Order: sequence, then structure tokens, then C-alpha cells
Amino acid sequence: MKILVTGGAGFIASHIVDKLIESGHEVHVLDNLYTGKRENVHPKALFQYLDIVDTQSAQLIVQEKYEVIYHFAAQMDVRKSVEEPTFDAQVNIIGTIHLLEAALKAGTKKFIFASTGGAGYGEQEYFPADEKHPIQPLSPYGIAKMSVEKYLFYYYQVHGLAYVSLRLANIYGPRQNPKGEAGVVAIFCQRLLNDEPAYINGTGLQTRDYVYVDDVVQAAYLALHYPKSGAFNVSTGVETNVIQIFDYINEYTGKNAPRRFAPAKKGEQLRSVLSYQKIHQEMGWQPTVDIQIGLQKTVAWFENKQKSIKQG
Ligand SMILES: NC(=O)c1ccc[n+]([C@@H]2O[C@H](COP(=O)([O-])OP(=O)(O)OC[C@H]3O[C@@H](n4cnc5c(N)ncnc54)[C@H](O)[C@@H]3O)[C@@H](O)[C@H]2O)c1
Repeated sequence: MKILVTGGAGFIASHIVDKLIESGHEVHVLDNLYTGKRENVHPKALFQYLDIVDTQSAQLIVQEKYEVIYHFAAQMDVRKSVEEPTFDAQVNIIGTIHLLEAALKAGTKKFIFASTGGAGYGEQEYFPADEKHPIQPLSPYGIAKMSVEKYLFYYYQVHGLAYVSLRLANIYGPRQNPKGEAGVVAIFCQRLLNDEPAYINGTGLQTRDYVYVDDVVQAAYLALHYPKSGAFNVSTGVETNVIQIFDYINEYTGKNAPRRFAPAKKGEQLRSVLSYQKIHQEMGWQPTVDIQIGLQKTVAWFENKQKSIKQG
């Protein structure tokens, strides 16, 4: 198939690109390198240095007539969305509508979207949250992602564009940028390996549902062949707190650094954990990488990266 992956120079989508190319698809990557890196893009993918908000991106889609679009490009920093909600909406809502309009003109068959679980459900009323949980986002970023889901439903119902929205929990693994929603793993890896102080914000008892990136790739791949449309949590159903994450990474880096605490970030969610029953029933997906194994692999990747930087 001929597939476009937006955000394919970024952390998660660059791994999806690798998988799609290994599986024999023709893949184009559209990215403005806002946080992504050119070196993440698979050499066999055709790279298009474009911004999703620009009309050229829509023109490309219409011209190339992609069968499937994976839309992973986003302004994905929750705190930035609070500081600059119009910028967030410009990229995450308006940019996405441009792509959807172009997809219709191009005759695209399916639109696979990187949505959010935790930032969409907000402070949860029950644990783990399934897809029927009330949508109560507490940030412009969460609002934007949930708005896009409404647009996806509209384009599907009214125009017949099939979609899968993957409500990702907190994703971690190689190539993660130490910014954004699940940045804590990348931040701790980088700081501890560089012998810099790594701070736990607040009590450190706030929990998240951490999914290793390879498992997300598998969910994204299953979505390609899923015959229906809908939104699915991609999660483990397991809660891990920040102190546990720190302790694991501290152990795997062999640094034995002290736990250091910093003031809590305003408005930070206390608990987030999502059920993956729906995607399991519908697509047969389940998480396969245990948090300790995933963190060991991630630490090893950051270690290698650091070594290659030192060797210059
Ligand atoms: N990392 C997580 O835990 C997590 C959780 C929930 C949802 N998501 C979503 O998954 C997707 C990928 O996230 P990630 O963690 O890989 O982040 P990332 O920052 O590594 O990837 C985002 C990519 O989008 C590109 N981009 C940003 N603005 C763009 C624009 N205007 N035009 C073109 N390209 C643009 C960036 O350069 C980058 O390559 C995002 O949509 C994010 O909201 C991530």
C-alpha cells in the first residue's frame, strides 16, 4: 500500500514507519522537524519536509493519493498547550482538518490517528478507564485530541472515510525526546546517564500507564487491517508511579543516585490507567513488554546513544 505517515521523524511514528517498510509498504513521511529528527526517518521512506498546517501538505496528499494516512504529527507538549492554546489548536485541530479534507479529495481509504488516553479522560472517575469513561480533558492538548476524534467520526459518518483513533497511554522507548507527555522516562535516562540531577516532581506517587513503543507499533499495524472504525485505548492496565520509574532507571543505569524531589507541577494529573479490553477483543492486541524489560531496553538505547556522541 502507499502510505503517508505524518510525524514520521518523531519518536513513535518513526518506529511505525520502520515496521511498515519492513512489511513491504511504500511509505512517505511528512514532518517539519519541530521535535522530530531527520536521522529517525528510515532511509527507504520518502521524506517530505512540510508543515501539516501549510497548504502544500494538502496538495501533496491530493497529488500522491495515499491509500492510508497515519497522522502522528502533533504539538504534543501538554504544558505548551496551556501556555499557547491557539498554537496548539492551530497544529492539532486545524492542521488535522487540512489533512482530512485532503484525504477526502485523494480518495484515501483510512485515517489512523494518534489520540490520547490520559489527557482525554482527565482525572478518572474509575480505574482503569475504558473508552466509555467521560471525556474531561484538563488541557488544550487533550481538548484538541478529543475534538479531532469528533471530526473523525463526522468524516466517517458523512463522507465514509474509515478511521482508527489510538488513545495512547504513556509511551516510552528508544528515540523518545525528553519532552512531552511521557517524557519522564527519557528525562531520567538522559539525566542519570549524564550524571546530572534528576528530579521527581511532587510526591512521586502520581501514576501513569506506561506502554513500550514496540507494542504501540503492533497496535498501529493491526489498525491498518481492522475492517471497522472506532477509538481504542492502547495501554497496559498497570499503574506505575514516578518513584518506581526513577528507581528502576537508577538501577539499570547503575548510577545509585539519590531520590531528589522538586515542587509538584500545577495541574498535573494524579492517576492515569487505562483498560485495553476493547482493542484486545476487536483486534487481538495486548501489551507484551513488561515495564522492567522495556526500561532496560530504553536505558541500553540511551547508553549507546551517549557512547556514539562521545566517540563523535
Ligand atoms: N509519547 C506519548 O506518550 C504520547 C501519548 C499520547 C499521544 N501521543 C501522540 O502520539 C504522536 C507522536 O508523539 P511522539 O511522542 O512520537 O512525539 P514526537 O514529538 O516525537 O513526534 C511528533 C512529530 O510531529 C512532528 N510535527 C510537529 N508539528 C508538526 C507540524 N506542524 N507539521 C509536521 N510535523 C509536525 C514533529 O517534528 C515530530 O517528528 C503525537 O500525536 C502525540 O500527541 C503521544
